[in-house]
Amino acid sequence: MISQEIRNILEFPIFFNVYQRMVGASRAHKIFVEEYVQPSQGVSILDVGCGTGDIVKYIPDFCNYIGIDFNKKYIEKAKRKYGYKHKFFLADASKQYLMNDNIDICFCFGVLHHLDDVSCRNLLTNAYKLLKHGGYYVCIEPCYFPDQDWFKKMILRWDRGVYVRDLKGYESLMIDLFKNITVARRDDMLSIPYSMVALKCIKE
Ligand SMILES: C[S@@+](CC[C@H](N)C(=O)[O-])C[C@H]1O[C@@H](n2cnc3c(N)ncnc32)[C@H](O)[C@@H]1O
Repeated sequence: MISQEIRNILEFPIFFNVYQRMVGASRAHKIFVEEYVQPSQGVSILDVGCGTGDIVKYIPDFCNYIGIDFNKKYIEKAKRKYGYKHKFFLADASKQYLMNDNIDICFCFGVLHHLDDVSCRNLLTNAYKLLKHGGYYVCIEPCYFPDQDWFKKMILRWDRGVYVRDLKGYESLMIDLFKNITVARRDDMLSIPYSMVALKCIKE
């Protein structure tokens, strides 16, 4: 677990973006969009916990993208950078928020591990309600695996998010809402030794 001082510093967009660059987040965003989000022509996408919005570089212009985050500074930065073509809103995803759109794809990149189980369940229930039938929720999160070496485990323990779970832990948050869940382990997303899991849940 990283110290509170570093946690506070990362609340500022400029330091958050430097950290993201250091760990290779941009490449990870690209892989996540191409292999898991898989946007097609005209889909509406909701990015929950969008941070400073940097993933939109990889969202094709033919999609209707909305980003939400509860960090005001991140949302302001996202609006300054990408507001000319996408919508960003300040909202706490673990509470009720209003969104009229019928969403095809809702995703979280590295958000659930910042939230306790109750908040995650609220976030996922909100996502489920906003999704069209046949739409999907997809996320990628740091994850403990039994065969991980001590170094990878240590890095996960240092993470800014204090709710890093194992695969069962993530699945248990979704299983009551989504029946159809596919899982992929990824140890190659970041430039540091970091195990992640992608979970894709279809709303039937
Ligand atoms: C590790 S950052 C990832 C940011 C972004 N998804 C990315 O990949 O660059 C986690 C983000 O989740 C946001 N977040 C955490 N809990 C949230 C909540 N309850 N509602 C909205 N955003 C939240 C944080 O503010 C932060 O921007």
